[in-house]
Amino acid sequence: MANVKFYAGESFPLEMHKVRIIQKLNLIPVEERGKAIAGAGNNTFLLNNRDVFMDMLTDSGVNAMSDRQLASMMKADDSYAGSETFTRLDKSVKHFFGCKYFLPAHQGRACENILSQTFVKPGFVVPMNYHFTTAKALITVNGGTVEELIIDEGLKIRSECPFKGDIDIGRLKEVIKKHGADKVAYVRMEAGTNLVGGQPFSLANYEEVSKLCRSSKIPLVLDASLLADNLYFNKRREERCKKMTLHEIVLKFAELSDIIYFSARKLGFARGGGICTNDHDIFLRLRELVPLFEGFLTYGGMSVREMEAIAVGLDETLDEDMISQGPIFIDYMVKELDKRGIPVITPPGGLGCHVDAMAFLDHIPQEQYPAGALGSAYFIASGIRGMERGTLSEQRDPDGKEHFSNMELLRLALPRRVFTLSQVNYAIDRLVWLYENRRLVEGLRFVEEPRILRFFFGRLEPVSGWQGKLIEKFRKDFGDSL
Ligand code: F0G
Repeated sequence: MANVKFYAGESFPLEMHKVRIIQKLNLIPVEERGKAIAGAGNNTFLLNNRDVFMDMLTDSGVNAMSDRQLASMMKADDSYAGSETFTRLDKSVKHFFGCKYFLPAHQGRACENILSQTFVKPGFVVPMNYHFTTAKALITVNGGTVEELIIDEGLKIRSECPFKGDIDIGRLKEVIKKHGADKVAYVRMEAGTNLVGGQPFSLANYEEVSKLCRSSKIPLVLDASLLADNLYFNKRREERCKKMTLHEIVLKFAELSDIIYFSARKLGFARGGGICTNDHDIFLRLRELVPLFEGFLTYGGMSVREMEAIAVGLDETLDEDMISQGPIFIDYMVKELDKRGIPVITPPGGLGCHVDAMAFLDHIPQEQYPAGALGSAYFIASGIRGMERGTLSEQRDPDGKEHFSNMELLRLALPRRVFTLSQVNYAIDRLVWLYENRRLVEGLRFVEEPRILRFFFGRLEPVSGWQGKLIEKFRKDFGDSL
């Protein structure tokens, strides 16, 4: 974002764009919100959007597009094979990452599926800074295990560490030694580390990982889905990156990687995904699976319109004004909540604002899913849907025992360029009210629990009648307000 100083001294997020298309929102009364969340089995994934005021579930596929992206969609060339649109996307991706080969896929997890099927065998291990739900599920489905080696600071809720997404190099060395390099399928580094609060890793750390991988002949895989946020923080927080252009930083990350994959629902502000590499053998191995699972090599399951939008979106990712809106709004929200004593992950990261449900609802045991309960209570209080990122988002151990997550977070994503500052202020206000009334909130228990990725479809119920009491208190405090 441009350097604009405010005469008043204090600074506020200032958008370097204007809004030209709007979508009307609906805020239903608190009693209706109670019914809607009960009908959704207290799972915010199962709410209908017509009952939602601000959708802060995710930034995936819901970022606002630019005029250039929309215009590009109109000239999409529809054909099963060899479309002009693919040629443009191919050129854009190769320019962005400076890579030789690109394979399209319909979204990020499709890339993870292709990579896991190709590299992961039973007994193999995949060390990583931190897991992402789909990445881990696809590795374990193929018989592999995940070793999470994020630095200790990465799992502290409050911290000043600018790069909480860094991997612990010492532990990575130990894991490689323990399993033997031939049992390490690949090392996975996730930019803008999602599940620990959208926290970035440094270029310096990535260089060390790359050196270690190259000397051990282990492929290094970069999950670049949240690279735009990571880049913003490299540029702002890492001394040597301040002198580099955003493109120079991307090219450096790419040079250090063997494989890069991304969800274009995040990177590129559209919907789709893809895998890049410079290695011809790897390219040939991965390519076999694209027509099998995704579609022909020149669309990979994506619509041509989306491919056009990604091509432009990647170009715009190299413009700091275009990628800074998310992190700057998140910074504002986190700091305002922190000032009011609400437990949130610090320093502010990318993706969204992450509320520490374990501290917010410290009277709810982890077996009763405090982050899920907070998500349900917050929807009742505000009509805003967030996403549980805690124990519900984990898988049970093979023996059926609950696997407690390191953190119990309610993620309030800030889709890029979608919400205004007054809406963010509303989100803050309702969270402050809920914090003051937190003792009214109690836990949840499963009534329907799917075996894989249970957080998507699982249904839960409150352990008591606490939701009715919360609604009553809301009416008492807010009168006839929505
Ligand atoms: N990697 C990361 C870091 C992600 O955040 C996601 C998706 C994926 C891979 C999978 O990509 O959804 O296109 O298949 N994250 C979404 C989220 C779902 O809400 O955080 P996908």
